[in-house]
Amino acid sequence: MEITMIKLILLLAYLLKHTSADYRTEKNRLIELDRERTIGSKLHLTEKENRANEIITSLKTSELQSGFEDPNKFPSSQHFFDIRKTIRISRIFQIIQKLPKGSSLHIHSFALTSQEYLYNLTFRENLYASISSSGELSFRFFPSNTSTNWSSLSQLRRTNRSNFEEFLKSKLTLVREDPRKSYPTVEDAWSAFQGIFSTVNGLISFKPVFEDFFYQGLKELREDNVKYAEIRCTGLYAYDMKGKVYRDEEVIGIYAKVIKRFRRDYPDFVGAKFIYAPHRKFVRANIDEEIEVYRRIRKAYPELVVGFDLVGQEDKGYPLSDFVTHIEKIRDIGGNLYFHAGETDWFGFESDENLFDAVLLNATRIGHAFALPKHPGLVEEVKRRGIAVEVCPISNQVLELVGDFRNHPAAVMMADGVPVVVGSDDPSFWGAEGLSHDWYVVFMAMTSRRTGLRFLKQLALNSLSYSSLDGKEMGRALEQWKVDWDEFIEFVIKRY
Ligand SMILES: *[C@@H]1O[C@H](CO)[C@@H](O)[C@H](O)[C@H]1NC(C)=O
Ligand SMILES: *[C@@H]1O[C@H](CO)[C@@H](O)[C@H](O)[C@H]1NC(C)=O
Ligand SMILES: *[C@@H]1O[C@H](CO)[C@@H](O)[C@H](O)[C@H]1NC(C)=O
Ligand SMILES: *[C@@H]1O[C@H](CO)[C@@H](O)[C@H](O)[C@H]1NC(C)=O
Ligand SMILES: *[C@@H]1O[C@H](CO)[C@@H](O)[C@H](O)[C@H]1NC(C)=O
Ligand SMILES: [Zn+2]
Repeated sequence: MEITMIKLILLLAYLLKHTSADYRTEKNRLIELDRERTIGSKLHLTEKENRANEIITSLKTSELQSGFEDPNKFPSSQHFFDIRKTIRISRIFQIIQKLPKGSSLHIHSFALTSQEYLYNLTFRENLYASISSSGELSFRFFPSNTSTNWSSLSQLRRTNRSNFEEFLKSKLTLVREDPRKSYPTVEDAWSAFQGIFSTVNGLISFKPVFEDFFYQGLKELREDNVKYAEIRCTGLYAYDMKGKVYRDEEVIGIYAKVIKRFRRDYPDFVGAKFIYAPHRKFVRANIDEEIEVYRRIRKAYPELVVGFDLVGQEDKGYPLSDFVTHIEKIRDIGGNLYFHAGETDWFGFESDENLFDAVLLNATRIGHAFALPKHPGLVEEVKRRGIAVEVCPISNQVLELVGDFRNHPAAVMMADGVPVVVGSDDPSFWGAEGLSHDWYVVFMAMTSRRTGLRFLKQLALNSLSYSSLDGKEMGRALEQWKVDWDEFIEFVIKRY
């Protein structure tokens, strides 16, 4: 009896041990299968890259671990306004700053520089301001005080004692002490956001400022180790002191000169190109006119104007389907389509279903595609067609689509190997700089603890391969990137 009992116990122990070994093997197999789908998982790393990878994953793990133990210490679960300064002390952030990130493929021409640079522009000479009765601020440069509607900004600074500097700053940024109170809903955030666009318009459209602002935007990208950009531009307009107005191809001409000068100053910079992106709301009435503008600017600068998009809050209507009948004409002009689509929390509304139009219209990339994971069938189609998704997490948080970055839907897309590139959208307005803030949030909050250098490398490579660079330009860009990448790997190994 006793012996049978012992035998039984031994048998049970044997089974338990064995099953649990099998169980663990099976679990690991599933984890491995799952990981294989993640962006970059199939990349082969060199020996040096493997060492850098170990360093990066170990720093990542320890930063995550301290957040896991005390969520107050985890920046990426909080609002960007509260963490944008403290992020800088993260070693992962510092590494990401150094990392050659390739290109920036989702950024708007009005929001290219740091917030501080934008604010500094208000100290320029001959700048006048007008404050409407409802508190809206506009800027304009004039040779002298000729209009009663405008007051010299330097004089306002001297005479207006009621916290004028604070007021001024608040008109140039969405950043607030308590963002959730300042912008309780998406609508509040968008309304403030659009207010900034109209405020900065007269400031940065002044030709000398326009040139400096663009130059500075490129400089900040380069300092952040981004060497190429595709910039959405809306309302191609500039003016000078004599009141001369520059439109459309003339404005692209101004950009072209700045790019040339910038590349002379920084020969390692690959360049910048433009996506013509009229506002979906204003364009509908005069879509033919906008198509003509697109035709003209592309004819004048075919190598710089690479595509077409529509911008503006999608929930406010004017869905892509309104424009379908015009797409043939746009296609005939050439270039690619890069639609903003699915930048919404709503499910099954037009803004959400814009995603289907973007795919059917053969968009080369989709801006945000925030709602895409809710449509697994469409996700498959996006993968099949090799359409890239431009993920801009800080923008989505600031514009109230998501609170905690860990819940950002692109986490699912990246784990599922949807081709993703990271964009910054309008960094000036929320106090981000370059691309590193968005990359940091993506890496720390939106990928697995186990995800490391392969992912980062693939993101950088995606930003080049899903760009509109042609064969020769791409060759040059990749060559430059490889030089920078090898240097970066050396840096990580030496420094950490
Ligand atoms: C803005 O101006 C301040 C004061 O002149 C200067 O210290 C700072 O470097 C400037 N920042 C930028 C980004 O130009
Ligand atoms: C000044 O503002 C008023 C009211 O907004 C407008 O009617 C007028 O045309 C403006 N004058 C100039 C010179 O801009
Ligand atoms: C500009 O002109 C208006 C009207 O003539 C005057 O009230 C205002 O003080 C002037 N501002 C400056 C800065 O000269
Ligand atoms: C003075 O500044 C306040 C904001 O601090 C602003 O509301 C007000 O319109 C300004 N006054 C004038 C005359 O510009
Ligand atoms: C999109 O691409 C497919 C396959 O290349 C083609 O059959 C279709 O006509 C294209 N649609 C548009 C709107 O360009
Ligand atoms: Zn955008």
